[in-house]
Amino acid sequence: MNDKFNRINLGHFPTPIEYLNNISVYLKGPDIYIKRDDCTGLATGGNKTRKLEFLMPDAINNQADLVVTVGAVQSNHTRQTAAACAKLGLKCLIVLEQRLTEAPNAYMTSGNVFLEKLFGAEIVICPIDRDVKEYAEEIMNERKNKGANPYYIPVGGSNSIGQLGYVECLREIIEHDKDNLYTHIVLASGSGGTHSGIVAGKSYYKSNIKIIGISVKDNKYDQEEKVFKLAQDGCKYIQCDEPKREYVEVFDDYVGGGYGVPTKGMTDAVNLLATKEAILLDPVYSGKAFAGLIDLIQNKHFKDSDKILFIHTGGAVALHAYEWAF
Ligand SMILES: Cc1ncc(COP(=O)(O)O)c(C=O)c1O
Repeated sequence: MNDKFNRINLGHFPTPIEYLNNISVYLKGPDIYIKRDDCTGLATGGNKTRKLEFLMPDAINNQADLVVTVGAVQSNHTRQTAAACAKLGLKCLIVLEQRLTEAPNAYMTSGNVFLEKLFGAEIVICPIDRDVKEYAEEIMNERKNKGANPYYIPVGGSNSIGQLGYVECLREIIEHDKDNLYTHIVLASGSGGTHSGIVAGKSYYKSNIKIIGISVKDNKYDQEEKVFKLAQDGCKYIQCDEPKREYVEVFDDYVGGGYGVPTKGMTDAVNLLATKEAILLDPVYSGKAFAGLIDLIQNKHFKDSDKILFIHTGGAVALHAYEWAF
């Protein structure tokens, strides 16, 4: 798969896989391993490094001089896009959507927002009553009229090109897992490209591993449909067999009050991983995903003989903007 598509090296790969001994013993269930995609290297790491390694060459092939993208105020995707642009000498314009209405000042200015400014990105806050994609399109048109050639990266970098990064991640996992140890992959499912890339990779590499997405925003049905559609597009793009619908499984019980709204399960999971494994999860994605994993283990969803691989997709930078939630 790798040789067929343009890729720019932006991160540190393959990311390590570690056994979570303390947590596995504590939860008295299956063995839990963690794929450290929080250590991908670009601007403190995270899942977007993998997607940007395929998206940025496309921007360059399109002779773009400006990369435009969107995300929630504490989006990790926008922070990593800003960093990739800085490294490759492209301008970056970020349109941020205010999804939390009662967040303190730190949420609006620290964490990812602060880093985006350090990387030299231009930040525009989308008015609450506007659709962020439409608003970004309007700004892009204005910039085009002034002579710019913008390249648009959708929310989360989740399209056929971006998800290639997670087809590639599954290749790394399979290569590492010579004894076919892992029975399940568990990961956060947001804009869907990370999850769908793993699903498309399952088709491409004919893997038996089961994949469980923990939704951070949408209900089970909508999230599964979104991920399945993206994976179908991805499989066409990489020219492999269609994914089966049953490859996509989402649990939506851990979203709580909505996208980015803290839950007790999330703070417990973040505290547990910090105190038992010295690993920092994030408040919006991996914290809720790990809360889901803990609950599924406690509710005997897995056999004790299963081996679970949790993909840590990064995001700990946002902890600074969420201190109030702990
Ligand atoms: C830290 C982190 N984990 C997981 C996700 C979810 O990935 P995706 O949007 O591809 O579903 C994101 C998305 O922004 C993220 O920032």
